[in-house]
Amino acid sequence: MKVVAIVGSIRKDSFNLKLAKHVQKRYADQIELEILDLSPLPMYNQDNELNPPQIVQDFKAKVKEAHAVLWVTPEYNASIPGVLGNAIDWLSRVDKVMIGKPSFIMGASMGVLGTVKAQMHLRDILFASGLNSPVLGGNEVYVGAAHEKFDADGNLTDESTVAFIDGVIANFQEWVKQYI
Ligand code: FNR
Repeated sequence: MKVVAIVGSIRKDSFNLKLAKHVQKRYADQIELEILDLSPLPMYNQDNELNPPQIVQDFKAKVKEAHAVLWVTPEYNASIPGVLGNAIDWLSRVDKVMIGKPSFIMGASMGVLGTVKAQMHLRDILFASGLNSPVLGGNEVYVGAAHEKFDADGNLTDESTVAFIDGVIANFQEWVKQYI
C-alpha cells in the first residue's frame, strides 16, 4: 500500500516528523510511506492555481498517486498550523486530488491534550467539498507529552504508545482496503 505522510511542521526536530518516521520505519514491510516536505511549497494564490509552480504540481501528483494520506500535525493556536492549511489549499483546488482518498490523522504535542483541537479542525476541513476525504474514525492518535516519549535519536520509546499505534495501523490498513 502506498501512503504519503503530510506533516504539519517543517522544523527539523519536529515531534510530528519523528512520529511520521516511526510509522515509516516500523511498518515498512506493510506500508510504503513517503513523507512529503511542505517547506518548499509557495503560498497558495488563486491567480496561479491553474498553472502552479512545478513544486506544487509534483506535490499534488504524489498525493494523487497514493492510496491514502497520513496527516501528522501539531496544534498551533488551537488549530492546524498555517503551513498545513497552505498545503491543503493547493490540494483542494483544480484537480482536487483528495476527493475520495482516505485519510488517517495523528498528532503530537508537548501538552497533555496531544493536538485534540487541531485534529478536530482537520477532520472538519477534510469534509469540505474540495477535499471530501473519508477519515478513519474511532482510532484517534493523540501523542501528548511528546518530549518524554522520544529518545535523543528521535525514536518513539514509550511502549504503550508504540503498542497503541500498532493497533490503529492494523485497523487503518483493514479500513483502507475498501477504497483501493
Ligand atoms: C504551539 N504549541 C501549541 N501546543 C498546543 O498543545 N496547543 C496550541 O494551541 C499550541 N499553539 C502553538 C502555537 C505556535 C505558533 C507554536 C510554535 C507552538 C506548541 C506545539 O505543540 C509544540 O511547539 C510542538 O512541539 C510543535 O510540533 P512539532 O514542531 O514538534 O512537530
